[in-house]
Amino acid sequence: MTDCEGDGSVGLTPVEIYEKLSAQGDQVRVLKTQKADKADIDTAVQLLLKLKVDYKKLTGQDYKAGCPPTDNVVQSDNGPASEEGDDLVDPWTVSTNSAKGVDYDKLIVRFGSSKIDQELVDRIEKVIGQRAHRFLRRGKFFSHRDMNLVLDAYENKKSFYLYTGRGPSSQAMHVGHLIPFIFTKWLQDVFDIPLVIQLTDDEKYLWKDLTLEDCQRFAVENAKDIIACGFDVNKTFIFSDLEYMGSSPSFYRNVVKIQKHVTFNQVKGIFGFTDSDCIGKISFPAIQAAPSFSNSFPQIFNDRKDVTCLIPCAIDQDPYFRMTRDVAPRIGYPKPALLHSTFFPALQGAQTKMSASDANSSIFLTDTPKQIKTKVNKYAFSGGKDTIEEHRKHGGNTEVDVAFMYLTFFLEDDEQLEKIRQDYSSGALLTGELKKMLIDTLQPIISTHQERRKQVTEDMVKQFMTPRKLDFNY
Ligand code: TYM
Repeated sequence: MTDCEGDGSVGLTPVEIYEKLSAQGDQVRVLKTQKADKADIDTAVQLLLKLKVDYKKLTGQDYKAGCPPTDNVVQSDNGPASEEGDDLVDPWTVSTNSAKGVDYDKLIVRFGSSKIDQELVDRIEKVIGQRAHRFLRRGKFFSHRDMNLVLDAYENKKSFYLYTGRGPSSQAMHVGHLIPFIFTKWLQDVFDIPLVIQLTDDEKYLWKDLTLEDCQRFAVENAKDIIACGFDVNKTFIFSDLEYMGSSPSFYRNVVKIQKHVTFNQVKGIFGFTDSDCIGKISFPAIQAAPSFSNSFPQIFNDRKDVTCLIPCAIDQDPYFRMTRDVAPRIGYPKPALLHSTFFPALQGAQTKMSASDANSSIFLTDTPKQIKTKVNKYAFSGGKDTIEEHRKHGGNTEVDVAFMYLTFFLEDDEQLEKIRQDYSSGALLTGELKKMLIDTLQPIISTHQERRKQVTEDMVKQFMTPRKLDFNY
């Protein structure tokens, strides 16, 4: 057992917490290598996560093994860094102490967004004249900003457009990244509207230890995965910042306008930047904000600045758009609306999101059927009991079971999902059987994706990424 009861980091300096964190990381590794008792590993992981949250709160920096805290530490003062005991959710870190995952109801209150309730889902169904996507029916997209205004406008025959994005930090995207893209594709189909997709190769160059060439290459590779989701080339513009910024005066004019209206203090408060962050990071939020304004794309919107933007993304990206919405009226533009998704959890449990920087936490879009099977069987955190007898008697816990959580994202049939929930909770269904259902669901989804990706040629990427008019008249 580790010494994880109580608050192990109260009163410690940044360097002391850093050292404690490093030791705790080692401890988790040792326990895992020794195949220690699951409860002991879980407790050690919980303490590790808590220390990471405390470290970020105290230093404003993410913990990185081998990188001790720098001298210029500041207390991050709002939004992302949270009150004692709250979950940590920002564009770089998602962590919670709860095996059930982030408390999304609490997050809505803290971020000041609105819940997607049944009334809104019903309204969307009424407006589009068809059943809502399973992500809406099941609360995977759970929060919004101004979606009712978008629907009001749409009902009055006013168009809007979609904007989403990807930070190309590596060649391979993971299944979690598919969530916003699958949903965006559905929105594009049901509303029949333009879509712009930003590839922030500049962001990844600034944040990661990568060359500009790496980031640009990853942008093109990631664009292929995005195209393989089925977007319509006549309705979609995909752009890399490193390319488009230099060729579009309209885009850059908006970036500069935003930069003029947001202070260093504000971005420090929103993103937790410190004095030792490079100035590229400090001004980057303006670049992620700019596509929210339609005149950043004069070729699509004929220079109009009043076309409303709707942004589907996971809620980790909300800090960028809180800033965007704050600045919009001050520079004469409409505020973008948002639809926020929950996180697709890491294989090891819902305490963190699936993240490409931890290969064992993720199922990649490049994984083979065998790799998927091995990862699910080996790593997917189980809510089942330790022995078959106990499981049959007491049943499993679907609220913490990762295989079940993944099925809630990918299994289309609501009735089948409910039956699995009941059978697993009653003990009729065993962990191995549940994992097999997940494997059987994921393998064809990933294989089909890989097939579609193979069909995406360099020419098609070029077509999607060429600034041009789309099939809409403005
Ligand atoms: P990135 O590359 O980290 O993530 C791309 C999109 O995937 C979402 N996401 C997830 N969704 C569910 N479960 C997960 N485990 C998970 N991990 C990531 C992200 O919320 C995002 O929607 N800075 C951005 C790129 C960007 C962007 C945007 C994203 C630029 N403009 C507009 C959304 C909307 C980034 O690095 O995303």
